[in-house]
Amino acid sequence: MPGPGPELTRRGFVAGASAFAGAALAGCHSGGAGTSFTGRLPETRIGNMPLTLVARERPLHLGASGGPTPAWLYGDAPFPVYRMSAGEMLDVTLRNALPEHTSIHWHGVRGPNAMDGVPYVTQMPVQPGESFSYRFAPPDPGTFFFHPHCNTAAQLGRGLAGVLIVEDEANAFADDVVCVLKDWRVAKDGSFLPFITPDGAGRGGTFGTLRTINGQVSPEISVPAGADVRVRVLNVDATRVSDIGVQGAEARIIAIDGNALVPFALDTWRLGPAMRMDLALRTPLAGGKVALVDYFAAEPVILATFVAKGEPRQNGSAPIAEPETAKLALPDVANAEPHELKLSASATASDYADVPAPIILPGGQKIDLLDSLCSTSRTLWAIDGKPWPQTGHQRLPPPLMTFARGTSARIQLTNTTPHVHPMHVHGHTFRVLSANKLKRPEHWADTVLVLPEERVEIAFVADNPGNWMIHCHIIEHQDTGMMGWFRVV
Ligand code: C2O
Ligand code: CU
Repeated sequence: MPGPGPELTRRGFVAGASAFAGAALAGCHSGGAGTSFTGRLPETRIGNMPLTLVARERPLHLGASGGPTPAWLYGDAPFPVYRMSAGEMLDVTLRNALPEHTSIHWHGVRGPNAMDGVPYVTQMPVQPGESFSYRFAPPDPGTFFFHPHCNTAAQLGRGLAGVLIVEDEANAFADDVVCVLKDWRVAKDGSFLPFITPDGAGRGGTFGTLRTINGQVSPEISVPAGADVRVRVLNVDATRVSDIGVQGAEARIIAIDGNALVPFALDTWRLGPAMRMDLALRTPLAGGKVALVDYFAAEPVILATFVAKGEPRQNGSAPIAEPETAKLALPDVANAEPHELKLSASATASDYADVPAPIILPGGQKIDLLDSLCSTSRTLWAIDGKPWPQTGHQRLPPPLMTFARGTSARIQLTNTTPHVHPMHVHGHTFRVLSANKLKRPEHWADTVLVLPEERVEIAFVADNPGNWMIHCHIIEHQDTGMMGWFRVV
């Protein structure tokens, strides 16, 4: 492990052990006494309980590759799952045992701005050896994840991500299975390949060489037989857009990006980087198999296989109807403040040198400097003609938009490029109103795919005060300029 001294390593070990003491709970959700359920991620309950996550390097065996991969993880295993109930406090201390600074962004969670985990915008970076505590009550139930927010191509590329599930009281499922999609850029010997390549960054992104679900290559995941099971599918990959379907059983989409909606039958659903969907899966009788499939490629890829086990439990039970998420304020679309954000390539760097945009943190620190891990080394993309600054630019760019608190905002995302961009808004959940290419029902989301040359309209009530990022979640695009921020005052 590079970097940290012995003192930090020792503390790291103790905290790491306690972080995983809850791993024994992993089987909790799998019901079925005497039946062992495999293929799952380690799970821990954290509501109203302090948790320490130590970000550090761990050797990871990814199956197909020869040697161990020097992963960066929040624990001993990739993608730890943390569960809590809506209304409970999240109390997570991040300890940085990595050789570079980091932070935690709670993707999709409408938390307070100071807890949003964006270095130089909502907090100072957590330097090697330092800690930072995140404490707030996530307001909405849903399927979320968390990850760093500077040098993300490398940090997320090395595995630094975890799952946060805020449970819903009305959960009537026989089981609740988490499936995390992530590709790894590894060579035959297990070492990492470069996360950013000029070819990938300037086009659709650089794809991984090894596809996994829950860090395993096409795992078998056991599920209770003859039951309605909730399957939460998260795409935490930096690059790949998948088209997810299920073979061998009936499945309905019950939530998008964690937001419950009126269930509809799953044909396939286009799941870009950072997007999530919750499925209600009616499992077959014991021994039956159901495949989770990516239909995006010419040859469909079986990502994982669910294997039914045990006595049937809910045969013939009524389908579960989930209500629309009620807590979110509906934007007043007819009277909303309209904006257009053009997603474009950028040939030249903008000079923001005379635009002062100081941000004052709750602690009083004034932010006016971006270091090289948080600015781009090369500008290839822009939002509204404004690329996120290159190394050497010493200030944040000006905000793309400023809203008075409570304003309904209607934004047309106009893609002028030949590449798809999954666009993500921090601190707010938006309505996807319409799109002129990919048909989808109106729904709540925090990340939306904008296809090549497509126009997508979103709307939300800008009701969370602070400074919020808006960016492409193809991380190479984000890291090379397709990122900006807006202000709610
Ligand atoms: Cu998932 Cu700005 O991030
Ligand atoms: Cu993009």
